[in-house]
Order: sequence, then C-alpha cells, then structure tokens
Amino acid sequence: MKYLFILGRNPLVSEAEILSYVERTLARRVAHKIRLNALLLETDNELNIKKMMNELGGTIAIGKVLFSGKKKDVLEGIKKKPIYFGRENKVVYSVMSYAENGDEFSEILDAMKENFSGERLKARYKGVSGTVKLQSGRIVHGSPEKIMLRDMNYFVFSCSGEMNFGYLETSYDSEEAERKDMEKPYRRESLAISPRLARILINLSQVKDKETLADPFCGIGVILAEAMLRDISVIGIDIDKEAAKDARENIDWLRRNYKISANHAVINSDSRAIKLRERIAGIATEPSLGELLKKIPSPERAQEMLAKFEDLMIDVINNLKKGLETKGKIAFTAPLIKTQRGRISCDFGRICEKTGMRIYKLSGLDSAFPIREFREDQIVGRDIMVLSF
Ligand SMILES: C[S@@+](CC[C@H](N)C(=O)[O-])C[C@H]1O[C@@H](n2cnc3c(N)ncnc32)[C@H](O)[C@@H]1O
Repeated sequence: MKYLFILGRNPLVSEAEILSYVERTLARRVAHKIRLNALLLETDNELNIKKMMNELGGTIAIGKVLFSGKKKDVLEGIKKKPIYFGRENKVVYSVMSYAENGDEFSEILDAMKENFSGERLKARYKGVSGTVKLQSGRIVHGSPEKIMLRDMNYFVFSCSGEMNFGYLETSYDSEEAERKDMEKPYRRESLAISPRLARILINLSQVKDKETLADPFCGIGVILAEAMLRDISVIGIDIDKEAAKDARENIDWLRRNYKISANHAVINSDSRAIKLRERIAGIATEPSLGELLKKIPSPERAQEMLAKFEDLMIDVINNLKKGLETKGKIAFTAPLIKTQRGRISCDFGRICEKTGMRIYKLSGLDSAFPIREFREDQIVGRDIMVLSF
C-alpha cells in the first residue's frame, strides 16, 4: 500500500512524526521518500488514514496512490482505468504536483483529459491556491486550508524514476481545530503550545491508546487535552498553581464537549521532586524555554540560559524515569537560541550522561534528533528531542 502525506512547514519534524506513528502502530514501513513537503510512504498493511489525519500534528493532507511505477505505465493507467469515483457528471479537479518537471506534469494532465473524455465527464482543472513557506525558506503551492477545495484533488509524485499518481482523501480540519483551541476556557498564549506541536510530541513519545502519558510542565494542558482526545490517560504536573487550575478547567470543558473515556490527574507540584505512584508509558512535554528575550543575546548569555535548562531537565528526567516503562520515550522541546554566532542548542550529551538516557534513533529517519523548529524572526526557537533508555 502506498500513501502520500502533504507535510507542514517543517517536513523533517513531520517525517519523524509519521515514522514514529507507523513504528508504534506496528504497520510495517517498507520505504518512504520525501520531495519538498510531500512524503510517499509504502507499508505492508493498510493504514486508517482518517484516524491518522485526526492524530497527526505535522500533516496537512493524506492521499492514496492509484498507480505507481514507470512513467509510461502510470500514464497508461490514468488513461484507461477509473480515476473519478463521484456520481456527478461534472467535476472540478486539482493536481498537486511533485513531478520531476513541468513536461511530466503536462503529460499527466493530458492523460487525465483523455480519461475524462472517455468517461464523458465534464471535467475542469483548477489548480490549488495559496502557498506555504517552508522552514527552509522554499515556497510551495497549496496553503493548508485550500488543499482539498475541489471535487477531486489528485497528486503526482515522482522520485528516482518512479512515478506515483493518486488522490487526496482527507485533510486537516482547521476549523474544528480552531474551535477547540478558541472555545476552551483558558488560553494563555505565553504558556500554551499549539495543538499541532502537542500532537507531534505525543506521536514522538509513541504512547499508545489506553496507556498513560505524563507532561511534567503541563501549563494549561494543551498536550494533556490532545492526548485524552485519542484515549490516552494523562498525568499533568505544573509548579504554578494557576496553571494547574486552568489545566483542570480546560479538561473539564473537554469532557463536557467531547466523548472522552481517558483518565486524568493534574497535580500542582515540582516535577523535580514529585513522587509518582503510577507507571507511565511515555513523556511528552514543552518545558519552560527560559525568559522571553527581546534582543539577540550574546553567546555567553545564551549558554547560561541553556545550562539552566539542562539542569532542570536533568532533575526532572532523573525523578520521573523511575516510573517510566523500559520502552518509554521522552519527547520534549528545548530552547534553540539565536545569537550573533548563529543558533545554539543545549548540550544534549550532558543531559544523557547525567540521566543515563540516550538519544532515540528512529528507524528510517536519516536525520537525527534534535530536529530544529523555528521561524526566521524568532530569537528562541525549539529543538525537538526524543530520549529513550
Ligand atoms: C511552556 S509552559 C508549558 C506549556 C504547556 N505544554 C501547554 O501547552 O500549556 C511551561 C510550564 O512549566 C511549568 N514549570 C516550570 N518549572 C516547573 C517544575 N520544576 N515543575 C513543574 N512545572 C514547572 C511552568 O509553570 C509553566 O506552566
């Protein structure tokens, strides 16, 4: 089975998230390839892509490949086999292109026209609108809200002499996500991470449905809520009394508005010292990344902040790892600070050395953790890290 994932603005993070998801769900990944912000995934078994779409944070849309192979065979497939599955005799369609070049794309469009005229369909091509600027600075077509606006939304993805053609089946429901984010009682911008990043961290932790996830810096509970929505029980800890209270109220709201059967506990305590009685399957968290910086700091000042962060993480990990399952992973963000001498990260080697943890090596991922996540104008961006025993 082959699927196409249209990724968010940081394809490396999205790739790591998808590979973690596949590893956790026991689907066997046969191969995957990336081109710009699209990832082609081949698996041994069928994926539940609707469920996946609801659970991934770094994916904008998912589609199924109809034809795959040499260009000539794919074009032949498009001309001769069904590619439209609706009932109307009029269709407006788009084609997302990850083709090797413009000529290839025109050949696809011609083959599609031949198919539609053979089917006596009134088909009109209308491209995807909007653009996305990737973290790398590259601009690609198709803004998240506009990627599946047509009746049929096809794609072509070519890589190393193999062409793949198919259609997008499901996309990120930004309206629903917005509603969930805006209507909950407490939204404190300075504390809260985005629901998308929350999902990414949960997936990187590889905690399964019905298991328990801990967030030792839970703030107003964005990670907790996203985990509970997919039936993961949660333990949230925050040293700030107000934050813990707000997290509880946000979860109460979630329970009133969604069908939730997962358990939760929010504890107002210091994660460096709390004694947890429950076993935890994994940790997903965004710790305090340090004070808000208005000016680019000197490298020395940045180093000081990073060392403070490392100390906090070392204490929290040493405390919580006692309750962590042997296969448990710790997915967290760390400050990535812009200085006059470039962006600098904390010393993950030191965190590992002092906690006995290792940087997790995700199978199939070429790049290694940490993965950088930042915007050009941001002074403090994030490193995304996963540790395991
Ligand atoms: C960046 S915020 C977390 C955001 C949270 N993930 C969310 O989405 O709402 C960091 C939180 O860590 C808490 N915190 C800092 N030091 C802590 C400690 N030692 N133990 C527990 N919580 C701590 C702060 O009070 C703050 O609410």
